[in-house]
Amino acid sequence: MLRYLVLLLISQLVQGDFQCPPGFTAITSKCIQVITVNSPHSAAVSKCSDLGGKLVSIHNAIDNNGVINAANGVTNPLWIGLKCAASQASSCFWDDNTGSAGTYNNFVKGWPMTDIGSCVYMSVTGKNAGQWLSGDCDAMILSYVCETNPIDPGNTGCGDYQFGDKCYFPYAYELDETDSRVVCQQTCADLVSIHSMDENKYINTLFGANSPAYIRIGAANVGGNTYVWFDGTPFDFSNIGLSNAQLGSCMSMSMQNDLVKQGQWISSHCETTLPFVCSRRKSVICTATTPVPTQTPLQCTSPFIYEGNGTFFSPGYPNTYEGQANTCNYILYVPSMATVAVNFPIFNLDATSRVDLYNQIEDTKPFITLYGTVNPKLWFNSTTNTMRMVFRTSGDQAGQIFRWQAKFQPSYPGGFTGLPPVTVTPDPYNPSGCNATALYAPGTITSQNYPNLYPNYSECRYLLSTAGGYRVHLNFQNVDTEQCCDIIVVRDGPNLSSRELGRVSGHYPPNAQQFTSTSNQMLVTFSSDSAGQATGFSANFEAV
Ligand SMILES: *[C@@H]1O[C@H](CO)[C@@H](O)[C@H](O)[C@H]1NC(C)=O
Ligand SMILES: *[C@@H]1O[C@H](CO)[C@@H](O)[C@H](O)[C@H]1NC(C)=O
Ligand SMILES: *[C@@H]1O[C@H](CO)[C@@H](O)[C@H](O)[C@H]1NC(C)=O
Ligand SMILES: *[C@@H]1O[C@H](CO)[C@@H](O)[C@H](O)[C@H]1NC(C)=O
Ligand SMILES: *[C@@H]1O[C@H](CO)[C@@H](O)[C@H](O)[C@H]1NC(C)=O
Repeated sequence: MLRYLVLLLISQLVQGDFQCPPGFTAITSKCIQVITVNSPHSAAVSKCSDLGGKLVSIHNAIDNNGVINAANGVTNPLWIGLKCAASQASSCFWDDNTGSAGTYNNFVKGWPMTDIGSCVYMSVTGKNAGQWLSGDCDAMILSYVCETNPIDPGNTGCGDYQFGDKCYFPYAYELDETDSRVVCQQTCADLVSIHSMDENKYINTLFGANSPAYIRIGAANVGGNTYVWFDGTPFDFSNIGLSNAQLGSCMSMSMQNDLVKQGQWISSHCETTLPFVCSRRKSVICTATTPVPTQTPLQCTSPFIYEGNGTFFSPGYPNTYEGQANTCNYILYVPSMATVAVNFPIFNLDATSRVDLYNQIEDTKPFITLYGTVNPKLWFNSTTNTMRMVFRTSGDQAGQIFRWQAKFQPSYPGGFTGLPPVTVTPDPYNPSGCNATALYAPGTITSQNYPNLYPNYSECRYLLSTAGGYRVHLNFQNVDTEQCCDIIVVRDGPNLSSRELGRVSGHYPPNAQQFTSTSNQMLVTFSSDSAGQATGFSANFEAV
């Protein structure tokens, strides 16, 4: 009887009472789409985002099976929305902030292995079908699975503010033009455009009694008396009170009688941070969920994982974080060639609170601890491409507005002048460099077990990189492989679609085989078959 009930429950869940956007299939409570365009991890993330979703997160065996069923016929493994900071499931976190894979995961025994990479993919064929493995985010080119929310009929996500055929989204926190447009895009909107005096009046009421002095609107002066709306609609109405290029080319609306009358528009610098309003047509069905970064959690539960660049805030911002007592963890990722740079345009902590910054996720000692106030011009840079930031507060402070705003972005070291960047010593646990996340010039790569016999069915990728504008030069010191079948392929770029510079197999003396990339990355692969083992190869690479 119990089993029957469970089955009934599962079948109800699977059928679900919801509809998915075109192209997506329902599994339990979400909609997924398997995409067989082979991509590095970052391209998969951005394609899912274009589709109004993100890479799939999987929290139970039913969803895991649902993904495998949807991938019927697909042979290339699938990226999923999980990233690991260390080689244990509890250090892997879902992209959608639903926590770690400590509670449910389906890793192959002994995995994850972050030496290979911090991203995670699902195998779809063979004995590991449905199981998860670690992959190199940049070097591996895989299929992937996006998920998005079901369409909720009768609610297009338009929210509480509607006028005519448009929806409006007022934001009380302050951002510049670029960042505010990123926030608008999270609800498929853009900075507000205004087409009548009635609409102008409506927008002027959106902030109620707590109205700021000025808000950002989506107009810009593009020279002379010409203005445009960022959302592309015609500039068929204007309520300009003061336009002056000296004050900036973006426009804001006055919310009270001040320099201009209430409701009138005034020039302001695009870099000035202001509260803002987004709008879109009601007919746009927006299934996008709020992607990170740039968001204000009310409470911190699981860690927030932010990738690329962006702005984020203390809990409850723009109000004080008072009352929030959880520790907030933020994991910031930038491309593997860069380090993470963080700065705080706004920073005002009470005496019981602090912010710790760590050079990498695994560190237990912060490289700096920030108290009180911080100069908004200062940047704090990690030494790796992941930074952990922890905000600790006791939650019982009162009286003042205590809050912070953080910005992060990649910082590229080296630049294009000076001496070629120097090494990272070989990893003692992986001396061959096989499948290492990234190898920086100068260095040496070899086949596995070199100078002993390489294994049967060896399959290795070596992503060779230099910082900045240098190229990679690869020089084979020794080559000894089975001529027909155990082949080294050298590519001019970071992935398997990059142009081949050459193939090497058989026997060569030192310096007989040399290759130079045209950019700062080169991918070398080596694969062996089931027979004809030999000692393999050793090759030096350097920045030129
Ligand atoms: C391979 O790398 C090149 C150069 O970075 C990039 O332009 C291309 O999109 C990548 N191809 C795939 C399939 O990701
Ligand atoms: C931030 O990311 C966006 C989208 O990936 C990109 O267009 C923009 O150039 C980035 N900005 C910086 C400062 O890196
Ligand atoms: C830190 O990052 C900032 C912003 O990217 C950059 O301007 C600065 O030069 C970096 N500082 C160091 C020491 O790398
Ligand atoms: C290296 O990665 C490839 C897939 O990218 C995998 O098939 C191979 O088994 C890996 N090699 C080792 C030694 O882990
Ligand atoms: C590789 O395969 C050959 C022939 O199939 C076998 O003789 C040899 O022992 C295998 N080597 C290893 C290391 O398994």
